[in-house]
Amino acid sequence: MSDAKKIETIRWIGGTNGHVVLIDQTLLPTEFKEIECRTADEVWEAIKQLRVRGAPAIGIAAAYGVCIGVASQNDDAALARRVTEVTDYLATSRPTAVNLFWALERMKAKAESARGGSAIDIREALLTEAKAIHEEDREMCHAIGRYGAQLLQDGQGVLTHCNAGGLATAEYGTALSVFFTAQDEGKNLRVFVDETRPLLQGSRLTAWELAQRNIDATLICDSMAAQVMREGKVQAVITGADRIAANGDSANKIGTYSLSILARAHEIPFYIAAPSSTFDLSIASGDEIPIEERSPEEITHGFGKQTAPNGVKVYNPAFDVTPAEYIKAIITERGLIEPVTVEQIAAVIGQ
Ligand code: MRU
Repeated sequence: MSDAKKIETIRWIGGTNGHVVLIDQTLLPTEFKEIECRTADEVWEAIKQLRVRGAPAIGIAAAYGVCIGVASQNDDAALARRVTEVTDYLATSRPTAVNLFWALERMKAKAESARGGSAIDIREALLTEAKAIHEEDREMCHAIGRYGAQLLQDGQGVLTHCNAGGLATAEYGTALSVFFTAQDEGKNLRVFVDETRPLLQGSRLTAWELAQRNIDATLICDSMAAQVMREGKVQAVITGADRIAANGDSANKIGTYSLSILARAHEIPFYIAAPSSTFDLSIASGDEIPIEERSPEEITHGFGKQTAPNGVKVYNPAFDVTPAEYIKAIITERGLIEPVTVEQIAAVIGQ
């Protein structure tokens, strides 16, 4: 893959007093613009408004947000208090993707282990940790691609939902990493892209990323997936995840659960591609995954146009949970989890 095709969703600029640069994903595909975040408030807002989005990318952005939040602290005791304050604050930005909390816990643990050193040393340690979270994600995405590509054959049709690409991660993505790697291996795929109502991450972001790499992509409305499957055009479904429980139940963008049922009805394998940072082994099943509810205007006034009568009641859950029984395998950077059971997950992710 040439450097020109690399999408750098998140960049850190400078040293411990530096700032983060993010691609503003709300503007894609018609405008490519980067924004600078120089305060923890700006990072919080960018996560909340989905300027930066996708489970791994949220975690990376939040880790850098901690570095920004402690930047002016030169007093040891004040710094320790500030780490707690800023991690607690960033944790309120979005509830479902566990990568956010995973990254913030890592930052807190790093601050704790560096305790006793000078404030500047602790701030250095925090920046090193944030960069490590960023770099590890890059590596995990490439490994997911290598394991996942083995599941696909040249000429197959695949379907994906939402955006689990380079934009949603440090680089390359999870589900899209599988397609990119298959392409690098010389396999030509036909990718069907669910537009992904209501915020259109599929049409705005996934179709854009696939076009950047000249992958054959066909956009469909979410409601067309069953028909496309019935016509025999899809041989595998691969999506990302925001949180995977100890039993394999997987939260992902709203609409993923129904896709998994459709895949089962049409005897098409349904895969989740996700790094170990997306597993939450502290919860037994998907029932315990908090599902984010977003504003009614995302449905009634999508992208500024009113499409529903004034005052209509709206329910807008941003995620749903696919039961483990519908998932053929989970593709991780440590290999495939198949079958998706408590035991297999513990064996691959447990330590
Ligand atoms: O609301 P979003 O756009 O952050 O939702 C993102 C998803 O559901 C992705 O599929 C998931 O985070 C995996 S990203 C590798």
